[in-house]
Amino acid sequence: DRASGVGHGVAEFVVVANRLPVDIVQDEQGVSWNTSPGGLVTALEPILRARRGAWVGWAGAADVEVDPMSGDDMTLHPVRLSEREVIDYYEGLSNAGLWPLYHDVIVKPEYRREWWDAYAAVNRRFAETASRAAAEGATVWVQDYQLQLVPRMLRTMRPDLKIGFFLHIPFPPVELFLQMPWRTEIIEGILGADLVGFHLPGGAQNFLYLVRRLTGLPTSRGNVGTRSRFGAVAVGARTVRVGAFPISVDSSTLEDRARSADVRAAAERLRSELGNPETIMLGVDRLDYTKGIDVRLHAVGELYAQGRLDPTREVLVQLATPSRERVGSYRAMRDDIEREVGRINGDFGRVGSPAVHYLHHSVSIDELVAFYVAADVMLVTPLRDGMNLVAKEYVACQADDGGALVLSEFTGAAAELRQAYQCNPHDLEDVKNAIDAAVHRPAALGRRRMRAMRRQVLQYDVALWARSFLDALSADNDGPEA
Ligand code: ADP
Ligand code: G6P
Repeated sequence: DRASGVGHGVAEFVVVANRLPVDIVQDEQGVSWNTSPGGLVTALEPILRARRGAWVGWAGAADVEVDPMSGDDMTLHPVRLSEREVIDYYEGLSNAGLWPLYHDVIVKPEYRREWWDAYAAVNRRFAETASRAAAEGATVWVQDYQLQLVPRMLRTMRPDLKIGFFLHIPFPPVELFLQMPWRTEIIEGILGADLVGFHLPGGAQNFLYLVRRLTGLPTSRGNVGTRSRFGAVAVGARTVRVGAFPISVDSSTLEDRARSADVRAAAERLRSELGNPETIMLGVDRLDYTKGIDVRLHAVGELYAQGRLDPTREVLVQLATPSRERVGSYRAMRDDIEREVGRINGDFGRVGSPAVHYLHHSVSIDELVAFYVAADVMLVTPLRDGMNLVAKEYVACQADDGGALVLSEFTGAAAELRQAYQCNPHDLEDVKNAIDAAVHRPAALGRRRMRAMRRQVLQYDVALWARSFLDALSADNDGPEA
C-alpha cells in the first residue's frame, strides 16, 4: 500500500502485460530488441503509441535488469523475473496451468503450490511497477491470464486509479474453471478492476456466474451484449462492470500494405518460388497445441491421398513461430507436427517440390502480408482460440476480395466472420469438406463471401475495440445495477 513507499508516476495511461512489446536479445554483438510474439502485442502496440502511454512488462529473458526507457511515443517499464520465476510463474502456473485450463483442457493442466506462490509474488511486482508508473487518477489497463491478481493488488495500493482488465484468451466453462485450486483468489483478483472485458458474451456470463457461486456477491442476471448491455457486480460500495469486447486488427494499415506495389511484387515472387501452383493454402500460427496445426495437416494429407487435392497444384505453406519451447507439451507437439510434415512430403512431394512448406520461425510484417496476399486459401483450425487475429489479418489483406478463409467454429472470430468456410476441428471429415469447398469455390461466390467479411473487419478494427473498452471504463458507474 501507499505506506510501503510505492510512489506515483507521471503516466496518465498505463498498460500492464506479461510481455513488453519488444523482447531483449543479448549476444556477442551486444543488446538488441525484437518484436514480441503473439496477438496481444500486435493489438495493443498501435493503441499505446497513439495515446503515448506507459507499458509495464517483462523483457522476455530471465534475470535482466533494464531501466525504464522512453521512446518517442511510449515509455517501457521492464519488470525483472528471475530464472526460477520464469519456470514457476510463466512456464508453470501461466502456461502449464491456466493456459490449458482456459483452452478446454486440450492438454491436462497442472497445479502446483510453488507455481501459485510465484504467480502471486510476480503479480505483486507488476502491480508495484504499475503503481510507480501511474499518475494520480490515471487509467491502468491490465492484460490477460498471467496477471489476474494485479487489479486487486493495485486497487489496494492506489485507490485513485481507474483500473480495467481484459482477458485475451477464452474464459472457460464453469465446470472447468472450478478445477482451479485458487479459483476464488483469481475471481477476487479480477474484481479489483472497474471494468472486466472478455472477447465474447459467453465468457462474461461464465464469469458472472462464478462470481455469484464463489464469492456470494450480488450480480446482474441479464444477458451481456457485445460492446453493450454490460453486466455488473456489487463489491461493497463499488460497481464492477463486465462486458464483451471482441478484439481486432489494424485493418486499414494492413489493407494499405497489402495494396502496396512492393508487397504485391513480393507475393508474386513467393508464388513463383513455390513453382506457380494453382492454389496456395496458408497456415500462420504460434506453434501451440491450441491452434490445430495437426488437424489441418491430417486433413490436407487425407485430401491428397483421396485425390481431392493434387499436391502438384495445391500446396500448403505453414509458418510456425517458436513458442514456450521449454514447456513439455509444446516440445511434444512440435515433434508430432514435424513428423507429420515429413510424412506428407514423403508420400506426396517430389524432388524440388514438396507439398508442404514448413518454416519454424517468424517473418517480418511485410513478408507476412506478402504471404497473406499470395495465399488463395487461409487455414485457421484451432481447437480453441479466444479470438485469432490471423483470421482477421488475412481478411484485411484481401484488398481485391480474392481468397477464402477456412475457420474453426471454436475461435472467437467465428462469431463475426460468418461467411468463412467454417468447420468443427474435432470432425476431420468436416475440416476436409471445408478445405475442399474453399479450394474449389466458384469465383463469384468466393468474392461475395470475402467482401462481406472485409466489411466486418474494416469497420470493427482494433481502434474501435480499444475505444469501446476505454470509453466504458471512463464512463461513470452510477451505483450497483445488480
Ligand atoms: P496468438 O495470440 O495466440 O499467438 P493470434 O492469431 O491472435 O494468436 O495472434 C498471432 C499474432 O502473431 C498475429 O498478429 C500474427 O500475425 C503473428 N504471427 C503468428 N505467426 C507468425 C509468424 N510465423 N511470423 C510473424 N508473425 C506471426
Ligand atoms: C497469446 C496470449 C498473450 C501472449 C501471447 C504470446 O496471445 O494471450 O498473453 O503474450 O500469446 O505468448 P508468450 O507466452 O510468448 O507471451
